[in-house]
Amino acid sequence: MTEGRPPAAAAACLWERDGEIATVAQALDLLCADQSSAGSLLVIRGEAGLGKTALLAETRRIAERRGCAVWSARGAETLRSVPFNVVRQLLQPALLSLLPEEAASTSATGTTSPAPPSA
Ligand SMILES: Nc1ncnc2c1ncn2[C@@H]1O[C@H](COP(=O)(O)OP(=O)(O)O)[C@@H](O)[C@H]1O
Ligand SMILES: [Mg+2]
Repeated sequence: MTEGRPPAAAAACLWERDGEIATVAQALDLLCADQSSAGSLLVIRGEAGLGKTALLAETRRIAERRGCAVWSARGAETLRSVPFNVVRQLLQPALLSLLPEEAASTSATGTTSPAPPSA
């Protein structure tokens, strides 16, 4: 048997991440099987360059292939003083996808309208 990258059907060309991908897939199985589920928390940690972002990107691909809506946000030390930074990142794409009349009714209920997308 020769060494090489995993087959395309396996985890998007990530080396040595079968265990982590299986854990992600299992968590998504549980979530998709019971939409009233509170879900679960997966913590991905490791030294810089170890592949955390790559694994998160693969997690996103797996979830989207299963039809899940994926919302994401990034924290950053320099943005700690920005109010609700992470919440805004999470919600803005959904708010921007609202029809104008839906957005207007959302505003009427007190929710702030989303800012226009930056160029
Ligand atoms: N399991 C892996 N197989 C192949 N390439 C990987 C793997 N994990 C990470 N990489 C690559 O290594 C580089 C660093 O990965 P990255 O996800 O940015 O690390 P981190 O977020 O932990 O700092 C990227 O170019 C990424 O595509
Ligand atoms: Mg990273």
